[in-house]
Amino acid sequence: MFHHVLNISDFTKSDLDYILSVAGNIAKNPARYREVAKGKILATLFFEPSTRTRLSFESAMLRLGGGVIGFSDMSASATAKGETMEDTSRTVSCYCDVMSVRHPVPFSPHKMSAVATVPVINAGDGANEHPTQTITDLVTISQRFKRLHNLTIGLCGDLKYGRTVHSLIKMLSRYKGNRFILISPDALKMPREIIDMLDGENINYETTESLDDAIPALDILYMTRVQRERFDDKSEYERLKDFYILDREKLSLAKRDMIVLHPLPRVDEISTDVDTDERAWYFKQAQYGVYARMALIISLLGLKDLMGDDTLYIKPVSDYGKKIPNVS
Ligand code: CP
Repeated sequence: MFHHVLNISDFTKSDLDYILSVAGNIAKNPARYREVAKGKILATLFFEPSTRTRLSFESAMLRLGGGVIGFSDMSASATAKGETMEDTSRTVSCYCDVMSVRHPVPFSPHKMSAVATVPVINAGDGANEHPTQTITDLVTISQRFKRLHNLTIGLCGDLKYGRTVHSLIKMLSRYKGNRFILISPDALKMPREIIDMLDGENINYETTESLDDAIPALDILYMTRVQRERFDDKSEYERLKDFYILDREKLSLAKRDMIVLHPLPRVDEISTDVDTDERAWYFKQAQYGVYARMALIISLLGLKDLMGDDTLYIKPVSDYGKKIPNVS
């Protein structure tokens, strides 16, 4: 029996507490973990472009003493010759101990997990979810605020296609006292199913088009890129791409202890003059992404957290078998 990381909602609070605690231990002393995964192999199967997710996964495994294999371009894999993703999954299972998969089509990692014989980690599936980005975001927030509750969080930009905000709001809405301000133009608003979830669970949220109006109340401003690759109509992308630009002038409206997060890559939505402001946390966030993924690998492979509980962690983080959606 092995387990996968496919949907952020598969994580219980205690799963998450465990991951955050291991990631925190790693952040304190990364060198202690350098041989924990010796002899283990991670495969990174990226059917869609990535810098942070793929390289932070690879960095995480190398920093744990393991090895990495994989491809970063669909055209460099047998997919280009017509191999199905299921056969790729069956095959790569023979070569590694864990695989992380990014794919432009929603639920592809789920399908691959159904036939894999090693754990599969969803590294982003189309506009659906990006659970390890959310773990990264939560590690960052918990390191900065020492809590995940009683926070006012502004999610700004492409809330329609931005898979990172879909996963993040699902997770942060589980914590008491959090309030969300959804900042987007109407054409990029949060999908109906997320709004229904917020309504159904009585979560405190409001929607606005105005970043200027929202920013003074925020503890966290989570900026997102308008996802060009998800638009069929390129003129609509052109119309929306610069709807929000966070610059120093806008940042001056924010609290001194607010932080700015962004899953990156950014295009123009955060001006580079913000980078030197102490509230700009998006590159620290990228660093915490390595610790988050180290903690996930430790958890999935049942390795030891050297600074905390010294027992093997065998609790599943995701019971994949019951959750494969019906997709064509
Ligand atoms: N945050 C994120 O997913 O970045 P990449 O697309 O570079 O992996």
